[in-house]
Amino acid sequence: MFENYNTPKELRPSDPRFGCGPSLVPVEFLEKLAATGQDLMGTSHRKPAVKNLVKEVQEGIAKYFNMPSDYQVVLGNGGATLLFDMISLGLVKKKSAHFTCGEFSSKWYKSANSIPWITSEEVKAEYGEGVVGQNVADADLIAMTLNETSTGVQIEGLPEVDDQTLLCVDATSGAGQVPCDVSKVDVFFFSPQKVFASEGGLWIALMSPKALARAKEIEGNKERYIPGIMSFDSAISNGTKNQTYNTPAISTLFFINEQVKLMNEFGGYDKAIAYAEDKAKLLYSWAEEKEYLSAYVKEDKFRSRAVATIDLDDKYDASALISIFAKEGSVNGIDAYRKLGRNQFRISLFHNVKLEDLEKLTKMISLAIES
Ligand SMILES: Cc1ncc(COP(=O)(O)O)c(C=O)c1O
Repeated sequence: MFENYNTPKELRPSDPRFGCGPSLVPVEFLEKLAATGQDLMGTSHRKPAVKNLVKEVQEGIAKYFNMPSDYQVVLGNGGATLLFDMISLGLVKKKSAHFTCGEFSSKWYKSANSIPWITSEEVKAEYGEGVVGQNVADADLIAMTLNETSTGVQIEGLPEVDDQTLLCVDATSGAGQVPCDVSKVDVFFFSPQKVFASEGGLWIALMSPKALARAKEIEGNKERYIPGIMSFDSAISNGTKNQTYNTPAISTLFFINEQVKLMNEFGGYDKAIAYAEDKAKLLYSWAEEKEYLSAYVKEDKFRSRAVATIDLDDKYDASALISIFAKEGSVNGIDAYRKLGRNQFRISLFHNVKLEDLEKLTKMISLAIES
């Protein structure tokens, strides 16, 4: 199938990378990093060159998200996956409630559920469906996922929680272009290798005064052992000094800083949300228009503006077409999430993926199938 297909020159996207993470790092960022020569890479993260970079990242993020001034931008090594455990160990008093709708939200629930001294409740939607978070009376922490990367489901709307409850949002693949009022969230966290076009391995959390106090309370009472690498207390105090608890990857910090600057210059969060909306409209209307395509997420309000999942009629083999694109070097990264096992294209709408390139991609796929 598709053996004779060849993408015409005029339909080739300017960048072949449409993957949902790690996402495309602009080549200009790589060149800019190379241009720092001997001044940054290979210097100490406890010295001004790197500390100033961390400060710029923290300030740029606070500006981008219009973060309240009493919140803190905290960061550390380990990615969002580490935060799943860190939050359950260091911020849950007795019980967390998890709203799950795919692999990553389920993983967070499972990690909480395996800790014997807390209880966890799961409120679950089937894959491809969404579930909006709600206050759960006996839970002291509510866990939600802004954008489920595995299924392309996004959640808009936050529950009102009382002052004894923390609202924590894993925003990994939505942060930056899926709407979310961070002033209503106690821990808004993400890894930077999605919308923020950096490398993996880092976590970033915007923490409210309530979350900062909870971390202090739990670690202060010394009833639980919390490993140093998972200590919010250490991460928070290092964050106030523009540092991380242990050695970070400097290139990761460099790339996220470039992307945050780029997105602030682009016009900030609202503009980025509008751009993502234009790209989502293009893809979902294409999926509706072609009889051999269909949006995997049936309800429009749950269709992601960051990760589009589009099913292909079983008459055609998506993976065969993806291999042809990979062979010619025109497109990569549009396979369905591996554990979902669907005949599907999963396409990144992340900020650096251009609308014009997505338009070309839709035409390439249609041309291959229709010819
Ligand atoms: C929604 C979501 N949460 C968490 C993670 C885990 O991030 P990391 O691999 O950086 O730990 C991912 C990774 O793709 C994700 O998409």
